[in-house]
Amino acid sequence: MRNFAVFGDICYSDSPDRLVCREDSYVVCENGKSAGVFSVLPEKYRGIEVVDFKGMLVTPGFIDLHMHAPQYAYRGMGMDLELLDWLNTMAFPEESKYADAEYSSAAYSIFVKDLVKSPTTRACIFATIHRKATTELMRRLSETGMICFVGKVNMDRNSPDYYRETTAGSIDSTVKWLEESSGFENIRPIITPRFIPSCSDDLMKELARIAEERKLPVQSHLSENMSEIEWVRRLVPESSGYADAYDRFGMLGQSGPSVMAHCIYLTDEETELLKKRGTFVAHSPQSNMNLSSGMAPVRKLLEAGVKCGLASDVAGGSSIDMFRAVTDAIQVSKLRWRIIDESFRALTFPESFYLATKGGGEFFGRAGSFEAGYEFDLIAIDDSSEAAPFELNTVQRLERVMYHGNSGFIRGKFAGGRRIF
Ligand code: GUN
Ligand code: FE
Repeated sequence: MRNFAVFGDICYSDSPDRLVCREDSYVVCENGKSAGVFSVLPEKYRGIEVVDFKGMLVTPGFIDLHMHAPQYAYRGMGMDLELLDWLNTMAFPEESKYADAEYSSAAYSIFVKDLVKSPTTRACIFATIHRKATTELMRRLSETGMICFVGKVNMDRNSPDYYRETTAGSIDSTVKWLEESSGFENIRPIITPRFIPSCSDDLMKELARIAEERKLPVQSHLSENMSEIEWVRRLVPESSGYADAYDRFGMLGQSGPSVMAHCIYLTDEETELLKKRGTFVAHSPQSNMNLSSGMAPVRKLLEAGVKCGLASDVAGGSSIDMFRAVTDAIQVSKLRWRIIDESFRALTFPESFYLATKGGGEFFGRAGSFEAGYEFDLIAIDDSSEAAPFELNTVQRLERVMYHGNSGFIRGKFAGGRRIF
């Protein structure tokens, strides 16, 4: 891979509350990784190719820590339901259609095309229970240059007849899928039990064994909705709570990284457990609003030392745009501070930007920043058509673009040093 530099108004997080902005500067890509940010190119990089985004905002690519590719087709629809009704009315009927190769191919082609245009360079993605369609999604994603974890979903109980596997069938299909999907560049498999209500103990145990044996990451849902939590209490009476139920199966990070979406109603003990296990929380504020799920205590999780990132949770979230996730997280945290608990401050813009880049990026190793050694993921945002009667500084420009959700302004995108467009 040749070395090159990108020129523009460079913005990135180096710590949770610090946004670094370096106008008219270079970020250098060396072997797919950032070699740092420079006002003047150092001697050893003189003469390398420079991709010129002069006047544009240049940020790390955004990390969507949790989304459902097959739900993209109905995003922004059926939003007057709560989680369990929404799953039965919207998610399961739509996801079941991916048994049909023609349908899944058409639907995933739209999803992948739109994800390419979005600010996201890395994502953790749920597919459906179907092996072939999941592999097809991975193949399509691998052609884009984006870097993703994709999971074939597992479900063997409490699901409609038309969208449920047997325990043995679910395991068998998972093992076959892992074999056929191991060769994709940049697209790696992740073990994906949908959530505890959909997965029997036997299935969970076997999935945990597969994850452990192959050192695979795990993704699922945790503590999203009150009825869901109550249901889990009845389903796993021997556990002390929802997080403990996953922990008993070894799914909070014992085999590889684990990411749990939502985590709105964790007890203090559960929060401590996630911290101890190094489990990532995928905070999905837009989904939590749409499905009336609640307001996750992100500040509390951060103060407790739990690893957090942001997520669209499409199609609980109606938008794939991670700029929206940044501002939704701030806005939800303000309401939570005002209405629920004034002892936990709202998120600031730099903090939310951090969560959407470097915070979630840690799930992928060193991604989501331009500090030297980080994966070279980058987007260039042209905000020049946004008129203002006074001069904005770079942070103000960035904040405004995020609040407008204007991901249509993206003019260039790189992941792992490779240009996507
Ligand atoms: N819990 C189990 N499945 C789902 C899903 O598809 N979306 C959300 N938001 N929560 C879930
Ligand atoms: Fe989800």
